[in-house]
Amino acid sequence: MENKTIKIALDGPSGSGKSTLAKNLAKHYGFVYIDTGALYRTIGLFVSRKGIASDDAENIIALLPQIHIEMRLEDGGNAVYLDGVRIGEEIRTPLCSKYASDVSKIPAVRAFLLETQRSIARTNNVIMDGRDIGTVILPDAQVKIFVTASPEARAKRRFAELQQRGVETTYEDVLSEMQWRDANDSGREVAPLVPASDAIMFDNSGLDIVQTTQEAVKLINKVIGRC
Ligand code: DC
Repeated sequence: MENKTIKIALDGPSGSGKSTLAKNLAKHYGFVYIDTGALYRTIGLFVSRKGIASDDAENIIALLPQIHIEMRLEDGGNAVYLDGVRIGEEIRTPLCSKYASDVSKIPAVRAFLLETQRSIARTNNVIMDGRDIGTVILPDAQVKIFVTASPEARAKRRFAELQQRGVETTYEDVLSEMQWRDANDSGREVAPLVPASDAIMFDNSGLDIVQTTQEAVKLINKVIGRC
């Protein structure tokens, strides 16, 4: 029988507010929230712990068979497990951001994570946030939203988020790291950060998270006809 799960793809650059928006939308619709960036970050963490450089594709590919990564559904969202251990804030550091962005350029890494992402959407209604959800992971998603905001607006949000988490950094460092990551994620050959041809473009530069969520709900309701 054909599977009738509802899939909402939320793509966009870092700091666009995707993850908070995705969490809010998951709560609003009672869907499962899937943070796909956490998977790339976890691979980055594993690679960095092995002392391998983030651009050493050959050795990273050789490591893949040793990586036991799992996504489990907990509290309406996804939890990532590495070798049976739940991953937490350790993947949210600037170093892990860089490693995640670099390892995500390797086609074998993307292929390695593909089924983990797709399988969850086969059996659950999902809001999935990432970079290639609408283009590669869930091309058949009923709703695709590409969230953008100016680099300055995104850096400001990301800086506030990192401060709240107790990560020591400056706004200038966050902005330059973000600009580097934008170029790295958009310029790669495989599954670059580009909107799907059928994605709704949503610029939330001037909106706070409540307004962003309200606007997104309107956009989604228009497509899936739910209120
Ligand atoms: O969403 P995030 O910032 O946690 O993602 C970290 C990195 O992982 C991001 O710079 C690019 C990569 N990524 C990806 O290539 N594809 C995804 N679907 C999600 C993240």
